[in-house]
Amino acid sequence: MVVSCFQYHRSTSYDRDRMEGHGLDWENQPSVFKEYPGIEPIPLPEPGPFPEKNLSELLRQEKLDPEGFTFHIKALSTLLFLTYSLTGKARQGDGFFYFRSVPSAGALYPAELYFTANGLAGLDDGLYHFSIARHGLHLLREEPQGKGAESGPSLTFFLTSIFFRSCWKYRDRGYRYCLLDTGHLLQSLVLAAGSMGASLSCSADFPDNQVNRFLGLDQEREVCLAVAEVPMRKESVLGVIPESEKLSQDMVDASRVALKETVYSAPVEAHKAGMSIRRGNEESLPAMVYRLGPSPDHWEPLPSFSTWHEVVQYKDAVLSRRSRRNFFQEPMPEPAVHGLLDGLLKGTSENTRQFVGTGVLVNNAGSREPGYYLLDSKTESLGMVKEGPFMETMAHICLDQAWLANAALHFLFMADLGALEERFGPRGYRYAMLEAGRMGEILYLTAASMGIGCCGIGAFYDEEARQLLKLDENTRLLYLVAVGPVKRA
Ligand SMILES: Cc1cc2nc3c(=O)[nH]c(=O)nc-3n(C[C@H](O)[C@H](O)[C@H](O)COP(=O)(O)O)c2cc1C
Repeated sequence: MVVSCFQYHRSTSYDRDRMEGHGLDWENQPSVFKEYPGIEPIPLPEPGPFPEKNLSELLRQEKLDPEGFTFHIKALSTLLFLTYSLTGKARQGDGFFYFRSVPSAGALYPAELYFTANGLAGLDDGLYHFSIARHGLHLLREEPQGKGAESGPSLTFFLTSIFFRSCWKYRDRGYRYCLLDTGHLLQSLVLAAGSMGASLSCSADFPDNQVNRFLGLDQEREVCLAVAEVPMRKESVLGVIPESEKLSQDMVDASRVALKETVYSAPVEAHKAGMSIRRGNEESLPAMVYRLGPSPDHWEPLPSFSTWHEVVQYKDAVLSRRSRRNFFQEPMPEPAVHGLLDGLLKGTSENTRQFVGTGVLVNNAGSREPGYYLLDSKTESLGMVKEGPFMETMAHICLDQAWLANAALHFLFMADLGALEERFGPRGYRYAMLEAGRMGEILYLTAASMGIGCCGIGAFYDEEARQLLKLDENTRLLYLVAVGPVKRA
């Protein structure tokens, strides 16, 4: 029985000497598109026009006008398209496999997107599921708004994850990827909304049972992990979720994605362990980067970054983003290094700082000495922990994905999971993993906008990574993102 998320994380560690190979059950490969029998999706209008902005502009935007979003179905269609759409395909058997605007561990796409709309021109008030396959909407509830309705038009998004999609391949470790993938999707939504003039307020704190019931999820299979709403409201998101009737069993059964699903209990138990919320109005914790273990002797302020060398606008970065692995040993130009660091700094919130510490392994990047650095996003400075080459060793730790040794930089997202659990209970794990995923999305898009390669890495021997990075006993590497010049096809 998993009662702590740190325990979950430890028990799903990869250990070089204890890796059991397992075949994939292709007969029960999960469907990556959620369908509701008997509910035909309502087609959304063609998305567009698209914002003509660079990602750097978007990340530098000061506070947006809370009324800035146009509550119209056309704008909603554009927002959903920029957030989560099919952007590429490859032959698979007799059909096609579709890639998406956001990456996903193993291309298993556990994340689903729902929203309630209220007062949006061209769409009846309701709870909808977004069908990425059809760029359409499944109407799940009509006029569900309850007490939030009188406070003006609103859109509240719910990001969920279907355990079995990820666990089919990664078994109990799959919950890690459900969380990281959802972080990617959440950041994609935040940027898409920002590009259209909308501020989103995001939260990983909501009453799980009530929200899952409202969305009509089978909680043993699919759960809500994050909520985001526009415009920012004073009252909490709880105010707009009414106590609801259970949706029909057919709808609840739509969380099933394969005929014979193996039950992986650790993800379900770890998720349940994190259901209580222990976050009050107390002060934030000190920045995580100072609580990881290693402490640089000297912090060097980063230069102020004016422009990055963007080769495509934000919209094209979203549509062209893919995981690239064909890194080659070419020095990464200084402006590109600056762009990546600037992207991370601008995308980091107080929340991120509290839950994840960022490190960088430098290989071949601008004028920087190869070595292991920590990034303090508050003071905008880098501190060297240790000089020297790290890439070969890290590639070996990442399940011998040898191509990682050719990347110019490895970004590292780390957290003291023991301390988070002590302060926030097991839910602290959700906060940290979601933030790590959000940072990963910023790196992917920043790299794509500058024509550089990027690939997220969730597969590593956990204890070997902890030792290489000199992390304290309870601190772990959560996610690694490799970036660098890639060979052109
Ligand atoms: C959380 C996460 C972990 C990932 N881990 C790995 C990894 O260990 N090795 C790898 O080659 N790719 C990894 N990827 C990249 C995925 O394989 C990739 O996103 C997926 O195949 C879809 O392809 P695309 O990103 O080109 O659209 C990861 C992606 C994410 C989001």
